[in-house]
Amino acid sequence: MLAKQYPYYLANEAVFANNDLVVTNKYTQAAATTVALADAAVIDQAIAAAESAQVLLNKMPAFERQQILEHCVKRFTERYDELAYALCIEAGKPIKDAEGEVTRLIDTFKIAAEEAVRIQGEVLELQITKRAKGYSGMTKRVPIGPCSFISPFNFPLNLAAHKVAPAIAAGCAFVLKPASRTPIGALIIAEVLAETNLPKGAFSVLPCSRDGADLFTTDDRFKLLSFTGSPDVGWALKAKAGKKPVVLELGGNAACVVDHDADIIDAVERIVFGAYYQSGQSCISVQRVIVHDSIYDEFKKAYVAKVSGLIEGDPLDPTTFIGPMIAESEAERLDAWIQEAIESGASLLCGGKRNGAMLSATLLENVPNDAKVNNEEAFGPVSILSRFSNFDDALKEVNNSQFGLQAGIFTRDIYKAHKAWDELDVGGVVIGDVPSWRVDNMPYGGVKESGLGREGIRYAIEDMTEIRLMVLRNPE
Ligand code: SIN
Repeated sequence: MLAKQYPYYLANEAVFANNDLVVTNKYTQAAATTVALADAAVIDQAIAAAESAQVLLNKMPAFERQQILEHCVKRFTERYDELAYALCIEAGKPIKDAEGEVTRLIDTFKIAAEEAVRIQGEVLELQITKRAKGYSGMTKRVPIGPCSFISPFNFPLNLAAHKVAPAIAAGCAFVLKPASRTPIGALIIAEVLAETNLPKGAFSVLPCSRDGADLFTTDDRFKLLSFTGSPDVGWALKAKAGKKPVVLELGGNAACVVDHDADIIDAVERIVFGAYYQSGQSCISVQRVIVHDSIYDEFKKAYVAKVSGLIEGDPLDPTTFIGPMIAESEAERLDAWIQEAIESGASLLCGGKRNGAMLSATLLENVPNDAKVNNEEAFGPVSILSRFSNFDDALKEVNNSQFGLQAGIFTRDIYKAHKAWDELDVGGVVIGDVPSWRVDNMPYGGVKESGLGREGIRYAIEDMTEIRLMVLRNPE
């Protein structure tokens, strides 16, 4: 169901320039298809085309932008199975998770279609002083201009969609660089966009090697850079981005607190999902599980039993829960962190086995604070258990991190819920569920090393538009 070869999209058009990028099936490691790679000259053309298209996009009415987004919703719905299959092959994502991501892609475009006709300004009272008598003001939001987007491998469709869909809603031209390991999802989005009446140059989707990619960051014709990926790369890009605003959606080592009054069966069920779905390759995957002393043993027994029972294997098999990690090198890296923690005194409760890119669902306890698997972003199928007796200490432990994306708190106590919301230094606090929970209209993003700015269509549109003021003087 994958095409034999995929083009890149330059100024809305498919270009089969070469077959330089081989995309592998992440489970079998066999070549699955080839993709055309863009070089610096092509990226330069794409930016020039985006600048020309921006002039037309500035005048495109909201209902037309909405129609384009609605067309995408229709076509993604028609191509649902093909999209899920592509994710399963190129990302090694278990088919159930892949289907979940296509559903979210459709949600993201639906939300953007709604928001496209809700971008509003305000009427301002300016007569705040004698010298302003007779003046009034109005604001509207205007597109910021051509945007540079860089999207990651772990949600090849939906994290590209979180940039592309608000850009169309806001009326911004864009050039997108999808992750080289998983470019197919974004190229199918481009194929669908090419069916619309977006002005020529309004979008380009250009898989490219890292060498050619500097323009995505440094070129001043871009008026915004939005990057999702690893903290190291993200912060380095920001340092090179010049004057343009930068949105960074980076990583984390998310924590989940389970208080004494939690429903243990429910908490275990949700945390197993939050820690291990798509092999933990989500920025908000549960990495640290902090459980109240009084329920620790019961929780641990149920958690170990569930994690040990997760089915590993071929992502195309609907019963598979744990598929491969994105690359063998990533599984090797995390395996080394697990072994390092064990050598420093951690206990292995289950998992800890690796076969190529497959790393079994791993659970550790008594992990030293300075172990990488505790304080770096694991981005794989591992979680670590620790205990607390005082809720304030548990909150301190959640905050004891260089990251701050989302946190999950299982409590039935509304005062503790508010305390967590007040005191946790994160972008979002999820009460009664895992930090891994996200629906696509909510503000999503982090503090500290986890990033800058928020996605979630309405919030992305704010970044992609600027306020323009008109002042009116009535001399009478
Ligand atoms: C991420 O990995 O940052 C995105 C998580 C999600 O959208 O569920």
